[in-house]
Amino acid sequence: MSQKLTAAITAVGGYVPEDRLTNTDLEKIVDTNDEWIRTRTGIEERRILKGEGKATSDLCVPVVQEICKKRGISPEEIDCLIVATVTPDMLFPSTANITCDKVGAKNAWGFDMSAACSGFLYALTSGAMYIESGRFKKVIVVGADKMSSIVDYSDRTTCIIFGDGAGGVLLEPNYQGYGILDSILKSDGSGRTHLHMKAGGSLRPSSFETVAAKEHYIYQEGQAVFKFAVKGMADVSAELMERNRLSADDIAWLVPHQANKRIIDATAHRMGLSGEKVMVNIQRYGNTTAGTIPLCLWDWENKLNKGDNLVLAAFGGGFTWGATLVKWGH
Ligand code: UT7
Repeated sequence: MSQKLTAAITAVGGYVPEDRLTNTDLEKIVDTNDEWIRTRTGIEERRILKGEGKATSDLCVPVVQEICKKRGISPEEIDCLIVATVTPDMLFPSTANITCDKVGAKNAWGFDMSAACSGFLYALTSGAMYIESGRFKKVIVVGADKMSSIVDYSDRTTCIIFGDGAGGVLLEPNYQGYGILDSILKSDGSGRTHLHMKAGGSLRPSSFETVAAKEHYIYQEGQAVFKFAVKGMADVSAELMERNRLSADDIAWLVPHQANKRIIDATAHRMGLSGEKVMVNIQRYGNTTAGTIPLCLWDWENKLNKGDNLVLAAFGGGFTWGATLVKWGH
């Protein structure tokens, strides 16, 4: 028995809204076509959170509830909730605060973490450190984004990619060597020129002008981001394998951020992994930003075996990127 305290994943939850936005639907909104979207991105449809008053916390609530139900705990037992998101309900208070209120997590503290598509990995690593410190026993980490709230549905290069969704995990102390074993997290703020939202922050507060200029939507230079993403995600995944002395045979699953099927394929190729070891659900949900990786874990949970080595990898706005090694524990 290992004496080292690690943070094991003991439950997984996920949630996608019912409303679907298919490629055929998008053909009616912008000048695009199903064939282009499938071949350039791998996406077939995305889910959209509709309804007055619905926000990112409404994606988080069912995730936290599912986790508590599966693990047989009350929300009052949660010590801390971290929500990775770039589409918080409000600038403040945090979506974590609002979610805790909605689910009755009366004893939890928490906060939002902004690292775009790498948000779940940043939050997972942070949450694991709270467990490893010995200070907290039950930390929930959720990746959630209502991307439809910041997508310009007249911009065909971005509106075809994104969807709404959330997923999350419960972290608990473990002494058998399961859980979050290593993480390499990186950032380069100069990448902000290629992917950002221009207004709504302290740099350019919201005004009639910012709304008229469509500055509250995602601005993305797709090709530039694509190039950095292919290199960043593959480099960091290879580095993680090397530093943990893992060969392709040692890895059961690659759990990649779902931004573009071509970026996923390039990462898997670099790691020497065949397609059947790669989780891909981009065709059903599109790019849900912080939601993609936990939604994969949610979709694949029944296929995972105790002791499986998983490499979680992401690249996104910031730029932020990283890879995390998880030994599956349940
Ligand atoms: O998740 C966070 C990080 N984000 C990413 O990782 C996204 C990375 N980028 C990408 O995935 C890709 O760059 C996109 C999917 C956004 C775009 O694909 P692309 O292969 O880079 O396309 P492109 O921008 O180079 O455009 C190629 C052509 C252009 O036409 P011309 O100039 O060659 O005639 C575009 O106008 O495709 C055209 N095009 C479209 N055609 C039909 C661009 N968007 C569309 C569209 N439908 N939706």
